[in-house]
Amino acid sequence: MSVPNLKIGLAGFGNVGAGVYKNIQKNQHLLRERTGREFVVSRIAVRDLNKTRSVEIPAELVTTDLNDLVHDPEIDLIVELIGGIDRAFDLVKASLENGKAVVTGNKALLAERGQELFAIAEEHGQPIYYEAAVAGGIPIIKTVQESLIGNHIQTMAGIINGTCNYILTRMTEEGLDYQTALGEAQELGYAEADPTLDVNGWDAAHKAIILASLSYGCWVRCDKIYVEGIENVHREDIAFAEKLGYSIKLLAIIQLHEKTGAIEVRVQPSLIAKEHILASVKGVFNAILVKGDVVGETLFYGSGAGQDPTSSSVIADIADATALIGSNTGSGFVTHGLYGKPAPIEESISKYYLRVEVEDRPGVLAQIAALLGELDVGILSLIQPEDHNEATAPVVLMLHYAPFGIVQTAIDRIGQLDCVCESPVLLRVEDLS
Ligand code: HSE
Repeated sequence: MSVPNLKIGLAGFGNVGAGVYKNIQKNQHLLRERTGREFVVSRIAVRDLNKTRSVEIPAELVTTDLNDLVHDPEIDLIVELIGGIDRAFDLVKASLENGKAVVTGNKALLAERGQELFAIAEEHGQPIYYEAAVAGGIPIIKTVQESLIGNHIQTMAGIINGTCNYILTRMTEEGLDYQTALGEAQELGYAEADPTLDVNGWDAAHKAIILASLSYGCWVRCDKIYVEGIENVHREDIAFAEKLGYSIKLLAIIQLHEKTGAIEVRVQPSLIAKEHILASVKGVFNAILVKGDVVGETLFYGSGAGQDPTSSSVIADIADATALIGSNTGSGFVTHGLYGKPAPIEESISKYYLRVEVEDRPGVLAQIAALLGELDVGILSLIQPEDHNEATAPVVLMLHYAPFGIVQTAIDRIGQLDCVCESPVLLRVEDLS
């Protein structure tokens, strides 16, 4: 029996775009049975017509002009995989205005300009789907939108950048230094050629902004969150953390302050107990721990990047769109007034790991302890190894629960002491309880 076609305009034929095309062909029959529509990629926009491709495409489908997709009345839906922000914004906007639903995997676009795009989507009664924008193949967006709809999301703690997790895993397991581990990640194709957004924390931050916005029904602004990358994590800190019973992970933390309704969103390299389930997430894998007031704790684990996992999410969005195309069902983002205020990072409380490289002479420790004491920051434990070089010595202090702002002030003051030889290293300790 013939079924109606779903005509797809695929914008971008890089790694993920090629995966979407390949996997639609591969599972064509299954998709038809499950959705009652024939998935037809009817136009593909590429940047370079002459590029050699690992997945072959019929020449008549290919164009370099995005307008050929946007203005084709036959096309039901546009898949945006061109990346970047401005050009992608224009494409998504024009698609919505032309009555086409949009599927995108573009986390930077949504984090930076999602609010504008969803308003346009609302106005034109066309949805935007974005499962592939967060954590590749892990179905976390639909989980929050659908499966956890009856929950207030209390916290999320995510390992949502595979490149950083790979680098930290190699530094932990093989004792590699940061540069060597980064070089390996690039050689294996995990990190981008320009890995800046991966290692400076902003790839994870864009994903965290989307998750927080979706969870709390308001757009969290990029300038209202706190982001630190892994560039300053030393293997020495990983070794000390290990001795103290912790692993270091780049964590995205999203937290609702229930008393005030404020939302805390931050990305930081953090110590977590070696026994915690997130500590066993290694290599390029991603995982997100979600706690809802009704469901309790849930954990989502899988591949956060890569051609097949990410195209699995894009195809799921296309399948969702088949059910909604033609019916006016909203934008894919529900705003509400329950939450909204960003929580000031200075007030966010945790324990801390602090390493200070100091001159090895009497009285040094007392000066550091005095500065911490003046600001009411308690010391939980302390290590100073005997086998250090003669002139300087590392002192590692575990600090008691304290507000981040106060601890930063203490660290600034400690950094100015004459006896301190390098900038102190401060990492948060997340108890994730
Ligand atoms: N570069 C990202 C990562 C995947 O390493 O997880 C795309 O966001």
